Amino acid sequence: MNESNKMHMPPRGMRDFYPDDMRIRNAIFNAWRQASLAFGFDEYDACVVESLDLLIRKAGEEIVEQIYSFKDKSGRDLALRPEMTPTLARMIAARQGSLGFPLKWFTIAQCFRYERMTRGRKREHYQWNLDIVGEESVTAETEIIATAVNALKLLGLDKNSLTVRFSSRELLAELLAGLGIERRHYPTVFLTLDKRRKINDTETEQLLINAGIDAGTIKKIFSLLQIESLDQAEKMLATQHTSEHAMETIRKFMTLLDTYGISDMVAFDISVVRGLAYYTGIVFEAFDTCGEFRAVFGGGRYDNLLSDIGGKPATGVGLGFGDVVIAEILSARNKSFGNVSSGRMEVGYMEETQRITAMKIAASFRKKSYNVGLSLKPEKAKAFFSRAGKSGAQQAVFIGPDDIASGSIRLKNLISRLEERIPLSHLCDD
Ligand code: HAM
Repeated sequence: MNESNKMHMPPRGMRDFYPDDMRIRNAIFNAWRQASLAFGFDEYDACVVESLDLLIRKAGEEIVEQIYSFKDKSGRDLALRPEMTPTLARMIAARQGSLGFPLKWFTIAQCFRYERMTRGRKREHYQWNLDIVGEESVTAETEIIATAVNALKLLGLDKNSLTVRFSSRELLAELLAGLGIERRHYPTVFLTLDKRRKINDTETEQLLINAGIDAGTIKKIFSLLQIESLDQAEKMLATQHTSEHAMETIRKFMTLLDTYGISDMVAFDISVVRGLAYYTGIVFEAFDTCGEFRAVFGGGRYDNLLSDIGGKPATGVGLGFGDVVIAEILSARNKSFGNVSSGRMEVGYMEETQRITAMKIAASFRKKSYNVGLSLKPEKAKAFFSRAGKSGAQQAVFIGPDDIASGSIRLKNLISRLEERIPLSHLCDD
């Protein structure tokens, strides 16, 4: 790429949205918003710039290393948010006494992460966040997943398109306890197990050794990952005589998924751990069934985040669903979001003397809730219809001296090519 071409590109990993890109983005946002409202979530928003302190956690998460941080002119340490969850916790903590719980909130948040750029990963993305705070039962997890499935349906993706794989950090903790592993090691074990998809077993082992876990224990941890089903996990727990709470929760979760009619989309997978330190219970990640793309959405239960940032204890469950991978999936499946809109119209005129009439016609259709593009100057009919055809308008009106003389205009459907005559008196008399 030469220097002048480079000047026209956004910074690496950041995105421009031309009108064609906006159509896809809007279709995705509309599905997210429609599904959220259908399931009774309230919309919220917050500042993109956050205090760095809120976002820094010491557990060694990748996301913390990827933060875009800077100092403002007064020397405050600030950052572009890499995710919305700490901000959500901050906002709830600020009004915890007056908010009604459980609360169900959603947002579409622009997030920034200094990622290594791969397919499905950008340095800037939009993320639909759905969270339920203050509900202890697994109805919260089920409701969140059902809402996401509804959004997929609105985008034309059926139940066979995606699988939601889930596990439980509580279950893993119980299994680790059964193996005699000390509680203080759990956060490191979780984050290291999550990295396994990107690093090999030797590297994983090294990370665990660095964290102070001995080779014998590491072998036992690896053995946990061989668990292939819930029954197998249950049998292992039975021999270890640890708590049964996690397994009971998972069983309730499965029953509820069945009631919601989505159990066939959800599968237990012990290797789902998630890379964020705040999760404490059920965790889940959704992938396309062909296994071609990165995670479409991910989330889980977080019990301690509110208290960790100085709020009163409150449990939360939520997910983040990015726009990048879903757009790739929709494009691979040739799902297009046509630019022709039935509510869109173009109005043009041949000569300056027809401009006032054209303005009145445009105003009249706008009153009827059409989105009308009015020509900014007189045009030849050929140039007007060629422009109108590319604009996404379904209908067009082009006025010449003959139309004024006849007292009526021709409303042309640009798709069917049919024309309808409308008396000018119906449009210009207001
Ligand atoms: P996360 O797994 O880090 O979770 O991100 C959630 C989703 O955001 C991913 O599954 C993916 O769709 C999208 N995403 C993340 N990073 C990128 C990127 N660099 N480029 C494109 N898409 C990306 C969270 O952020 C949690 N805060 C979600 C959550 C909400 N948990 C509870 N409530």
